[in-house]
Amino acid sequence: MGYQAAVITVSDKGYKGEREDKSGPAVAEMLTEAGFEVVYTGMVPDEKAMIEAELIICADEKHIPLVVTTGGTGFSQRDVTPEATLAVIEREARGIPETMLYESLKITPRACLSRAVAGLRGKTLIINLPGSVKAAKENLAAVLPALEHGLQMLMADGSTEH
Ligand code: MTE
Repeated sequence: MGYQAAVITVSDKGYKGEREDKSGPAVAEMLTEAGFEVVYTGMVPDEKAMIEAELIICADEKHIPLVVTTGGTGFSQRDVTPEATLAVIEREARGIPETMLYESLKITPRACLSRAVAGLRGKTLIINLPGSVKAAKENLAAVLPALEHGLQMLMADGSTEH
């Protein structure tokens, strides 16, 4: 596969050094095992402007095809990762969170509490995952098999054959 990927952990506690980030490395490991080259990992607090800035750097400056965030998709007052993502994407990819929800509901009814979104900014696909290691891995596993084809379409200049 060989596409480059970035993993951004969104966590107030992780950013302040009060909690070890386990989800970011778990997501990076899964992506690496699937053939992605994880070229960037970042950590930002649950601040909308800082999440947006990190996503824009990955997309516009680093030109990374796949950017996966973990954390900040729930209902607490500080959870704003979906809002930051919606502010920077140009086109939504609704099938991705819908697939994650469909698969996750088979595991836990709490899956409906994730407000994760996914979408495209230029030639970058951004995907939100929940913050716990378990939830992040389960959600990523639901969409991972489809990502290579999606990125192939995204990288092509015109329309692609299927
Ligand atoms: N999805 C899966 N597959 N497995 C889980 O354990 N946890 C849910 C949900 N999605 C979960 C899941 C819970 S309890 C919450 S609160 C939301 O993800 C949001 O998580 P976040 O606030 O850490 O982003």
